[in-house]
Parts: sequence; structure tokens; C-alpha cells
Amino acid sequence: MKESREFKHPPNENNLNECKSIWDQIWIRELKDKSPLFYGFYDEAALLIEENFDVSDKTLVLEPGCGSGRLSLVLAQKGANVVLLDVSEQALNLAKELFSSTNTYEKANLVLGDIRYLPFRDGCFDVTFNEGVIEHFIGDERQIVVNEMARVTKRGGKISVLVPNAWNFPYAIYKKLYEKRHGTWSWGLEVPYTPKELKQRFFKAGIKVLRTGGCRLIPIPYHLQCFPARLVRSLASPVKKVLGRKWLRMNTGYTVLHRNLAQYLFCVGVRG
Ligand SMILES: C[S@@+](CC[C@H](N)C(=O)[O-])C[C@H]1O[C@@H](n2cnc3c(N)ncnc32)[C@H](O)[C@@H]1O
Repeated sequence: MKESREFKHPPNENNLNECKSIWDQIWIRELKDKSPLFYGFYDEAALLIEENFDVSDKTLVLEPGCGSGRLSLVLAQKGANVVLLDVSEQALNLAKELFSSTNTYEKANLVLGDIRYLPFRDGCFDVTFNEGVIEHFIGDERQIVVNEMARVTKRGGKISVLVPNAWNFPYAIYKKLYEKRHGTWSWGLEVPYTPKELKQRFFKAGIKVLRTGGCRLIPIPYHLQCFPARLVRSLASPVKKVLGRKWLRMNTGYTVLHRNLAQYLFCVGVRG
């Protein structure tokens, strides 16, 4: 594993420093509390990654905003070489631990950096993807991050993102209530996407959309530690066990209704 822990573009902007400190705290908690494979939703996202990218030991993958690195791990375990970039040092520490504990250490390179100024030359990756990252930007930066992901990907290479869906009512209501109660959203600035905006951003970045879809048909409140949320989680868990991969497929469905109303949206494209 190679590590580059020096910013090519120093994070001198206030919002970047704030974002770093929010995510450092989140990842310190994750590192202490439990395995990164168990927080939030992982299974459906991992299935999508597996299905969308056919990789070998010749494939070079970039995950900008890698967080724990648990999704890149899915591809590294299939032989791919992965570059994990994040603005949070603690995220990289978590990823380092995860890759070390799964004997995939030599497959990963860790880079401290900013997704808006990726420190890589044009067209060097076969696959560029992330989950839960590009919704943390507003204004022009929403396009800049997708453009950067496209720039560093080879022509014919694949790009995918997974983001919260602006049309998912349970998410919108939960976020409003949470902000009212806590005075803030603990994951920083977060503006979900509509299916239309997501496709347009890909199009403007020169990425041809191959597939879009919804992920998580039935919203499961992972963050909440209250009684009804625990009940929903414990009811869902045996269903998941019995249905196995069928449950995952159901939850990453492609019906029009599901695509537009699911908790998360995904978009997969090819760099033109
Ligand atoms: C929701 S987390 C990603 C979780 C990841 N998919 C996983 O499964 O662990 C979002 C990540 O984006 C990173 N991030 C936010 N702004 C960034 C920026 N400007 N450049 C690079 N990474 C950034 C955060 O530090 C955080 O680790």
C-alpha cells in the first residue's frame, strides 16, 4: 500500500476545513465503535458495485470520497487495484485498517485530497465511482465534482455515483425533523439529487448514461436509535436473511416508480 498524505491543493477554504472536521469525527467514531462493514447501508451498494464493474488485476479504480473504503474493497477482492482518496485523514485510517485486516493491503493506494481538484492526470482510471459524496456540494461545485470524475477516467471507462433521492419523502421528512431537533444535519451540507439532475450532470460532463435506478425500495432508518426504528430494523433483518440476494435485487430495482422514489439513486455511465 502506498500513501500520500499531503494535499496537492491545501485545504485553505473554510468549508473544506469544516467538512474535514465533521467527517474526521464521524470516522473516529466508526473506527472505535464497530466494523465499517456494518454501518449504514452496505449490501445494496456493494451489489451494485459488483454488478456494474467487471474488473481484473489490470483494472485501476478510483474512489474519490472513499470514506471507509469498504466499497472499493469489493473490487480489490476481485483483483482490481484501487486508489482511495478522501479529504478526511480518519477515513484513510479506517480504510487502511479494513484493507490490512482483509489481506488486500497491497491492492490499495491511499491519497489525502479534494475531489474538486483530483491530483491525477486525465484519463488514467478504468473505473471511477463513489457513494454518498457528490450530494455534499452546492452550486457550480455540483458539476465540477462530476467533471473531475469524468476527466480522470479513460475514454470508454465507467463512472458511477450513488446519492440520496430528493423525491424520497421519508428521507426528506426525517432530515427536516432531525435538523429541527439537533439544529444541524450531522453529516454536513447535504443536498439530494432528483433523477433528472443526476442524468443532466452526467450528460454535461460528457458521460453517456448506461443505467439509472433506485436503491432501497423500503427506507430503513439506520441512523435512528429510537424504538420504532429498531423495530423496523429487526423486522427487516430476518426477511433479508431468508431472501438473501433476492432481497438485494428487490432493493436495487429498476421499475419506474422505484427509480424515482427510492431512498437512493444511482447512475452508471461510460466516458465518451
Ligand atoms: C458518506 S461518506 C462516503 C462513505 C463511503 N461510501 C463508505 O461506504 O464508507 C462521504 C465521504 O466524502 C468525503 N468528502 C467530503 N468532501 C470531500 C472532498 N471535497 N474531497 C474528498 N472527499 C470528500 C468525506 O470525508 C467522507 O469520507
